[in-house]
Order: sequence, then structure tokens, then C-alpha cells
Amino acid sequence: MNWINLARAWLTRTKKPFIFLSEYDQKLDYLSLDNLGLYIHIPFCAKICSFCPYCKTVYQKELADNYINALIKEIHLVSKQVGSKKQVTSLYFGGGTPCLCIDSIKKIIDAIKQYFIITDGIGIELHPQDLTEDVLKQLKQAQITKISIGIQSFDEKCLSFLGRKNELDILKLNNLLMKYPFETVSMDLIFGIPGQTFESLKKDFEIAFECHANHVAIYPLIEFSFYKPEQKTTLRQKRKLINKILDYCQQKGYKRTSIWTFSKDNGHYSSMTRQNFLGFGCSATTLLRNQFKINTFDVQEYINRINNNCLPTALTCRLTKRQRMIYYLFWTAYSTVINPQDFENYFGESLHKNYGFEFFLARVLGFLRKKNNIYYLTKRGTYYYYYFERFYTLSYIDKMWNILRKQSFPQKIEL
Ligand SMILES: C[S@@+](CC[C@H](N)C(=O)[O-])C[C@H]1O[C@@H](n2cnc3c(N)ncnc32)[C@H](O)[C@@H]1O
Ligand code: SF4
Repeated sequence: MNWINLARAWLTRTKKPFIFLSEYDQKLDYLSLDNLGLYIHIPFCAKICSFCPYCKTVYQKELADNYINALIKEIHLVSKQVGSKKQVTSLYFGGGTPCLCIDSIKKIIDAIKQYFIITDGIGIELHPQDLTEDVLKQLKQAQITKISIGIQSFDEKCLSFLGRKNELDILKLNNLLMKYPFETVSMDLIFGIPGQTFESLKKDFEIAFECHANHVAIYPLIEFSFYKPEQKTTLRQKRKLINKILDYCQQKGYKRTSIWTFSKDNGHYSSMTRQNFLGFGCSATTLLRNQFKINTFDVQEYINRINNNCLPTALTCRLTKRQRMIYYLFWTAYSTVINPQDFENYFGESLHKNYGFEFFLARVLGFLRKKNNIYYLTKRGTYYYYYFERFYTLSYIDKMWNILRKQSFPQKIEL
């Protein structure tokens, strides 16, 4: 057992791993939960990028049409049985490249609106190739309020390392975004690409904010086990870059809104930091009070299950209270702010009673500071969060997704 597994056993107060089984609930009990978010996965791309871990396949019209019909049916299957309309914070479309199915986006939102009242807007991920007048017009008509564009980098060499070309005409993009304004325009950047310098990264940031972005997500390049690039950036080099990025953003007055996101002028795009969420579509996850479930990654099997009126859940993990608390704290820490009162409201128990020693230790080690009874991650804390997140991604998510890419409905996975 390595030290991170030991830490997990300590924090969850059990040696029991996270156990995912093929059994699942046909009825999902979400009505009583506050702060519920919705996520919809569209697993089609025009071309597959070698570094990308997400569930996706090359777009084929007939398969995509059948998928959209099944997706709408899944929304009805999950929500019809609940009986009354539920208020949710947000709806996010991710992928894949959701706008390859642009003609169906409004139809999907209409199905969602039969059962849910969305209070904080609707977001969608775009590939740079989606930035056309026709697509943006249809997104506005569908009442999408936030867009997130997968830029990755504006630098030719970095893009070429990622197997992409710079297809963006910045002037055209600026004009389009003036004509079709969105509340949030977010851009995804990647750092830690071999050969990338801080100067080029700084330039990426500047161009993004000049191009009407009011929110920028800057992710470290994660080298999943299936991705074998010829060169890799070391953890040490990434740490240096993280620290420089933080200093630069602070100087420029960009507000840090989570571990990897910065905003100005109230830009907000976050499909991850929600306490409870319902996911629809292939590979989508659902987190309710004490259950975490994940849908099959297999597009055809997803359609088959739905056509048999069954939910397409591949695996369910029934979380113990301590496991749920750790999951809660992990994602709350992602926002860099932990409010003990929110924890108590959610669990009906005090944070200090459950994790007082750990929070004391984290302050002594300089990972957290406390102000007005609220905890904030420090620069040091941010780095160690990244270290932990990287471990979690490479040993939990990577392992689970590798299995789910090969088996549509595995019997059991232990993590
Ligand atoms: C589903 S993609 C975004 C939408 C669109 N398909 C695109 O590629 O432009 C979500 C984001 O995940 C990030 N991403 C994908 N693979 C990654 C990796 N291996 N490491 C870090 N970030 C990654 C990219 O920044 C990407 O924009
Ligand atoms: S990065 Fe985007 S376009 Fe590339 S394979 Fe992943 S989802 Fe598709």
C-alpha cells in the first residue's frame, strides 16, 4: 500500500476500497437534494485527439441520430417517475464535440425543461471548428448562456505536439462573439506541453482574454496510460509553471475561481464542482446522496439498454458516509474554498468533529489558511492538491475508464 492509499484509508476510516458493482437503481431519488446540477454527454468527434481520455467515437450520422433519440428517452426514463418539476442549478453539455449534433441541442433542452427548472444557465463545450455563425446562432436560439472553447494553445508548436492545427481566425471570432454575445465565454488551455515556455503560456492567456473570454481554464497535460508521447514534461517543470501562472494571474487581477480556472467580469463555467448531479448519455456520471453511478461507455450498448426501457448504468458505488465526506471535500477543495458551515448543512455533522485534526495539520503544513472560519487553499496547498488529483486521475479514473472502454458492463471494479 503506498502512502496515498494509506491516506485514503485514514481519511475514510476504513481499509475498504471503493467498490463498483454492475447492479443499479432503475429509479433515481434526486427530488430532495439541493444544489443539483445536470450534465449531458455527446460522444462524437470529427477527429480523435491522441491525448484525450474522454468517451468519444468518430461522428457517423445514423449512429448519432439513434444516440440522440436514446438520450432523450433516458431523460424521460429518469425524470418521468419522479413526478414533479425539480429546480437545478445548471445544465452542461460536454463531450466529445456536442455541436456536431447542433440540430438536436434545442430538442434535448426542451426535454430537460419538461422536468427541471434551470436557475444558473446552460453551458456547452465547443471545438474551435464549431465557431461558425450558424452554430452560434442556434446556440443562442436554444438559450445557451455559456460556451467553453477547447483552444488548448494558440502556439503553433504546442498545437502541433497535440496533433492540432491553428484554425482560428481571431478577428472573425471577435466579430462573431460581438454579434452573438454569451454571459460566459470560457477557453480551455493546456500547460506542460513539452517545449512550451512560460512566455508562450502567458501569451495564450493574453490572447484568450483579448478574444472576449471572461473565463479561462488552464489544465496540466495529463499523460493517461494509453497516451505515449515521445517527450514528457516533468512534475518539477509543471510545478514551476503552476507557480508562475498563479503569480501572473494575481498581478493581472484575474480572479481564481477554482484550482484550474480564472475569470474576470463574473465569467463562470464549472461542470465539476457540484455536490449532487445527474448525468445523461454515454459515460455520464451521477452523484446523489450516497451513490455514485456511471453509464456505459459503449454507444451501441447504451442505445440498446435504453430501447429496452432500462437505465444504461454500467457501475454503481454505494458510498459509506466517510467516503462521501472525502468525495465532498475533494471537490469542494477544487473550488479552493471550504466552508465548514456548508459541510455541516450537507451532512448534519460538524466538519471539525470529523476532520478537525486533519484541518489543523493542513494549516500547520501551510496547505490551508483560515479566515473568518472559512478555509482557503494556499499556493502550496494548490500544488499538493494537483499532486493528489494527478494520483487520483492516473490510478482511479485511468484504471476505471480503461476497463469501461473494453467492457460495456463489467461485473465489478475495486479502486
Ligand atoms: C471534451 S474536450 C473540449 C471540447 C472539444 N471536444 C475540444 O476538444 O475542443 C474537454 C477539454 O479537456 C481537456 N483535456 C482533454 N484531454 C486532456 C489531457 N490529457 N490533459 C489535460 N486536459 C485534457 C482539453 O482542454 C479539452 O478542451
Ligand atoms: S479533445 Fe475534444 S475533439 Fe479531441 S478527441 Fe477529445 S473530445 Fe474529441
